[in-house]
Order: sequence, then C-alpha cells, then structure tokens
Amino acid sequence: MQNAEVLILGSGAAGLSLALRLAQQGHSVCVVSKAELSGGATLWAQGGISAVLDENDSLEAHVRDTLVAGAGLCDEKAVRFTVERGPACVRWLIEQGVGFTLDEDDPAAGRLHLTREGGHSHRRVVHAADATGRAVETTLASLAAAHPNIRVREHTIAVDLIVDRAARRVLGAYLLDLGTGRVDAVAAKAVALATGGANMVYLYSSNPHGASGDGIAMAWRAGCRVANMEFMQFHPTCLYHGKSRSFLITEALRGEGAVLRLPGGERFMPRFDARAELAPRDIVARAIDHEMKRLGLDFVYLDITHKPAEFTRRHFPSIHAHCLELGLDITKEPIPVVPAAHYTCGGVVTDLAARTDLDGLYAVGEAACTGLHGANRLASNSLLECLVFAEAAAEDLLRALPRRAMPGPLQPWDESRVTDSDEEVVVSHNWQELRRFMWDYVGIVRTDKRLQRAQNRVDLLRRETQEYYGNYRIGADLVELRNLIVVADLIIRSALARKESRGLHYTLDYPRTDAVTQPTLLPGRA
Ligand code: FAD
Ligand code: SIN
Repeated sequence: MQNAEVLILGSGAAGLSLALRLAQQGHSVCVVSKAELSGGATLWAQGGISAVLDENDSLEAHVRDTLVAGAGLCDEKAVRFTVERGPACVRWLIEQGVGFTLDEDDPAAGRLHLTREGGHSHRRVVHAADATGRAVETTLASLAAAHPNIRVREHTIAVDLIVDRAARRVLGAYLLDLGTGRVDAVAAKAVALATGGANMVYLYSSNPHGASGDGIAMAWRAGCRVANMEFMQFHPTCLYHGKSRSFLITEALRGEGAVLRLPGGERFMPRFDARAELAPRDIVARAIDHEMKRLGLDFVYLDITHKPAEFTRRHFPSIHAHCLELGLDITKEPIPVVPAAHYTCGGVVTDLAARTDLDGLYAVGEAACTGLHGANRLASNSLLECLVFAEAAAEDLLRALPRRAMPGPLQPWDESRVTDSDEEVVVSHNWQELRRFMWDYVGIVRTDKRLQRAQNRVDLLRRETQEYYGNYRIGADLVELRNLIVVADLIIRSALARKESRGLHYTLDYPRTDAVTQPTLLPGRA
C-alpha cells in the first residue's frame, strides 16, 4: 500500500465515494486529508441531496430548474448527465448504509421523505433530518477506514502536484505530514483532487476552516485551466450570533415555510421576486444585502414560529438544539441571519469523466468546474455532483488503470535552503487581511473600482508570501495562505473580465445581463 495506484486528495463526499468505488473493484487507493478522515464541508451539509425520486417529478424539471438557477451559463450536457445519474447515486448511498429520513405519512411504505429548497419546482431533496452531510460522511468514512484496499493519511496536507510538464502528465504529489513536519514525494498512476471549495477566502463563511481552495490552486500552478471563479455563492441565511458566526440555517427551513422579515416584522422577499423566499440563492442573498445596507441593519430575521413547535423540532433537530444552546428557541422567536460565503461554483475544468487538462489528473466535487452550476448553483446539487462525478471518474479509472504505469523515482522535496520562521505573524496577518478585503471589495455587490483595489492588495500579498514561502519551512497555515492568494487572484481576475451582471456576479458598473455569454476561462500557470 506504500505506493497506492490512485492518490485521492480529500476525504469529503467526492473523495470517499471515489475511493470506495475503486477499492470495491480491487484497486489500491491512498486517501489524504489535511484534517480528520471524516471532515470537510460534507460533514456540515444540512439540507440534502437533490435527485428525481418522486413519480410526479421529472428529470426534465430538474434539468430546467438547474439551468434557470445557473443563469444561462450551465453546460446543458453536464446538467443532463448529472441529473440522469442522480437517482442511482442516491441508491448507491443507501446500499452503503446511509440512513435517510423516511416519509412519516406512510412509514410502512419505506418511501424517502423529500424536502424542498429554493429554485426547485418540486420536492426532490433527500435528506437525513437537517444533518444530511453527517450521515453521508460518517458512513462513507467508516467504510473507507475499514477497507483493506484503502490507506488513509490524516493530518497530511498536499502541497503541490508533481508533474511531467513536457508530457503534461501528473506523477504524484508532495505531502506534508502535519505531525512530523516531513514532506514526502508520493507517486501514483493517477491523482484525484477532491479538496473542496475556497470559501475561506472571505471573512464570513459557512464553511469549515480547511476550505482554502488548495486543489484549485495546485491544479492552476500545474498548468490546468480554471473556470468561472467569479461565481462565489453566498448562502442567504447563516446564524448571526457573537458565539456562533458560521453556523448555517438550512434553506430547507424556507422550503418548509419559514419567511424572511425585517426587524419591524415586514416580510420583504415578495418585493424582490415572485418566488419570494424560494427564489434561487443569488436573488435572496442580494435582497438581504440590499435591505441590510438600505436600513443599516446587522442582520434580518428568518421566522418559522408560525409552524407547530413539534414540526420544527422533528424536521430541524440539530438547528433547534444548536440555537437553544445559545439561548434562542426557534419555535418561539425568529432567527437573526446574514449571508455568508458558502460555495465555489467555479474550479478546475473537467470533462464528463472528471478528467482535467493533465493526463492522469482528475478533479471531483467542489474543487471542479464540470459545467453543472453555471453562474449559480441550485441548492443541494453539490453533494449530487460529488457523487455523480466520483462515479464517472471511477468508471474512467477502472478502464485506464490497467494500462497506466507507476511513475519512476520522483524529485524529493528540497529543504536545503530554508530555515524555521522567526515571524509567524506575517502569515496570520496576511490571512486576515486577505479575507477582510475580499469580503469588503469582492463580495455580493461589486464594482470595477473595488475589484481593482482588491487586485492591488493581492499583488502585494502574493509577493510578500512568495518570498516567505521561499525562505522558511512550511506549515499548514502558510500552504493554505499561498493557495488562498492564488484563488483570490483568480476570483478577482475573472470578476474583472466579466463586463455584465449574471447569477452570483453582480456589478454596479455593468448591471445588465448580456444576451450571449461564455464561461470565464483562465489558463493555468505556464
Ligand atoms: P469537502 O467535503 O469540503 O472535503 C474536502 C476534503 O479535502 C477534506 O477532507 C479536506 O481535509 C481535504 N483537503 C483540502 N485540501 C487539502 C490538501 N491540500 N491536502 C489534503 N487534504 C485536503 N451541498 C448540498 O448539495 N446539500 C447541502 O445540504 C449542503 N449543505 C451545506 C451546508 C454547509 C454548512 C456547507 C459548508 C456546505 C453545504 N453544501 C451542501 C455544499 C457541500 O457540502 C459541499 O460542496 C460538498 O460537501 C463538497 O464536497 P467535497 O468532497 O468536494 O469537499
Ligand atoms: C442548505 O441546507 O441550505 C444548504 C444546501 C446547499 O448548499 O445546497
């Protein structure tokens, strides 16, 4: 197992489902996670997984809803591919042992309960109460940990890909063991990036700490194209509370009838969109941002107090318990909420087999840009994409692996010219500065002037951090900061290139939407 055939960087829904599908067919896999095996955004996912599982729903309707949310920028082939494969992937999860919530109206029938979220024309979100990600992640992680063909390396961070640039082929990756501080060059027949999104680039985010866009930055440095990075999704409703800043209040609350109100009690979403609280996320987040700025508010309210308390406790047990711990009973009081950075719609460009521009390199899950999400992701289409493209990557790898050779000896990591840092404050300061100006200048509403300001600051931080990186021994914070700077630069450059407003990219300088558009493609570093 020292030299596994496939090196999978990341152990969320994307990485673990790919690992299990390969291991179950007899291939050896190494799964690397910079944190615990069971982690990433997947563990935090609440609402559920969208898939057509009701006889009154249709694949066509799911395709249409995804295209509408994506605001003219989805790749329809990728949308159809994902939607058509969705139901089988949910069944695969059930076979692995994930316990989804059943329809309580007819428990004997064993039908899945389907909830509803913004932008969906039907109830089609399968879920495990309000902690779907936990059910998926812990089930897959325990299977992976016990599988003889899977080697797990926790608390190990991938620093860079090792690439044969002439052959445009990936050979492996440099892995930093966070316990020993040692960096190994690890070879593999194929490498999969399943490293999740880049949402920590913003000061306020619904994501866990590790969402620093490592896979996107590594792929870009290795020469892969990256697309649509201007489309960063802000979730409309994160809890506003001094002691719990990044806790999400699932969209399923709105799906089950919760409404948004101003402090005086006025319901404001009908003024912005006929679908009101169930409009796609970009519209709801922008409306909240607009009202907060107009009235000088720190937050607005999400109100589900009109529903029976028993209903709310049963459907949203984790949110109810979390808020209660903070002294807020959501069955009796409205919840203070604000938008926060939530999802990276862009990423490493892949085809329908999750292949990137480099031979042997795959990208799966939030790190990838498959064309599914376009300019705005439809709720609960992300876990779906993780599962569908992990399956597609596994199918491709099962065909390709027997023909692929293990690379020869790799260039070891060179530490001969570095010393221990004497100024860690540079790293912590630059982390904070970056996230602050990204929030202030590259957030929900943009202008060219704000973007240019951010660009100037990123250029400065890049130079400073690069020098630091070249002189000192690396640690996780420095590796992540270096990647966040790349990602911030890609977001700003993509935003500056788009001279219109579309989906999640809204700019006061170009408020109109063009009749025709293309994805924003940035070439990898030469
Ligand atoms: P992740 O689950 O984020 O996993 C990334 C993995 O990569 C982790 O194991 C991490 O340790 C590892 N990693 C990262 N960088 C490195 C590195 N350099 N070296 C080694 N390892 C690395 N989507 C839905 O569809 N439905 C929902 O209900 C939903 N709810 C959500 C709620 C919250 C609060 C959040 C934050 C997101 C939610 N999403 C939801 C989005 C969805 O959870 C994510 O998009 C999805 O889980 C991403 O899965 P992933 O496998 O791509 O990455
Ligand atoms: C939520 O539960 O609101 C998050 C769903 C998603 O991000 O798809």
